[in-house]
Amino acid sequence: MINVNLIKNIRLLIIFMNCFISKMKPDISTHIGPIFIDNPTILASGILGISINIFNRIYSSGAGAVVTKSISMLPSSGYDGPSLFSVGGDGWLNAIGLSNPGIDNFSKMLRQNKKIPIIVSLVGSTDIDFITMVKKLQNSKILAYELNLSCPHVDKVGLDVGDDPELVYNIVKKIKSATQTPIIAKVGLGSTNYLDTIHAACDGGVDAITAINTLRAMAIDIDAMKPILGNKIGGLSGRPIKTIAIRCVYEISSKYNIPIIGCGGIFDWSDAVEFILAGASAVQIGSVINNKWMQIFSDINQGLTNYMSQKNFANIGEMVGISKKF
Ligand SMILES: Cc1cc2nc3c(=O)[nH]c(=O)nc-3n(C[C@H](O)[C@H](O)[C@H](O)COP(=O)(O)O)c2cc1C
Repeated sequence: MINVNLIKNIRLLIIFMNCFISKMKPDISTHIGPIFIDNPTILASGILGISINIFNRIYSSGAGAVVTKSISMLPSSGYDGPSLFSVGGDGWLNAIGLSNPGIDNFSKMLRQNKKIPIIVSLVGSTDIDFITMVKKLQNSKILAYELNLSCPHVDKVGLDVGDDPELVYNIVKKIKSATQTPIIAKVGLGSTNYLDTIHAACDGGVDAITAINTLRAMAIDIDAMKPILGNKIGGLSGRPIKTIAIRCVYEISSKYNIPIIGCGGIFDWSDAVEFILAGASAVQIGSVINNKWMQIFSDINQGLTNYMSQKNFANIGEMVGISKKF
């Protein structure tokens, strides 16, 4: 005869064990100000274009969100090649020239999105450019806007805008009054102090900062004796820029009370942890996609979960910026 009490006790034990295990498993969901995502890994802008099919695969592979290629008012075909090449040491030099289909074509593509948390990257020269684009997307399903204030190799946009704090303030303030969707400012290192740009963006009411974009750089072909990139000057990404990006995240989080998304040279979970300890609430994944493809998102999430268990962190919030204590 089956012992009813024994079965009851086993059931209770299983429930207790499940509660215990789920309590022990760290929570890797994260808040970036008003933006909430299931895990802190985000595809960086421009790395895999704007195809909804590809975004779907990235999201299914474990990314918490994706950022689109930067979209401008009008379609742009970008620069002549070569536009991307490896500089060794897991570094890449690119000057794509912000090729994109323009806001009208893009907004049609975006209608196919049903479930992916998409951050739309916008690039423009004036506050009117940005507001016009935001208005054209007002009925779309968008997690946040990321303003590209930092592309280092296209005239009159990107860093040319980011280097003008007054313009940054105007752009952010006007977009904030035109939409409820959160606004992220993506900064880079230009010819003025990048902290002035952040100050202006914060004054304008920005919700978060992404730091950093690629760094202005170039390379010369010594046989042909000419610059390798079609545009001559481009942006350096990948492993060589990680320590610079960490320094920026640390500086920003030490000076401003603003959520940060770290970006630059993240190749594995330990890089992601480093960014979070420096002050980032989430990280963007870029050049490493060339080496590890979409697997990188779940690899980072798994490594991060293991690290948090070992160090007894219950959630990401407990880790953010801890290195500033020392
Ligand atoms: C081929 C390529 C295209 C990029 N296009 C954009 C873009 O359209 N907008 C933008 O804000 N950043 C763009 N970036 C910069 C990345 O989003 C990221 O900030 C940078 O590559 C640093 O991260 P990583 O070292 O992980 O690649 C691009 C980078 C690469 C390599």
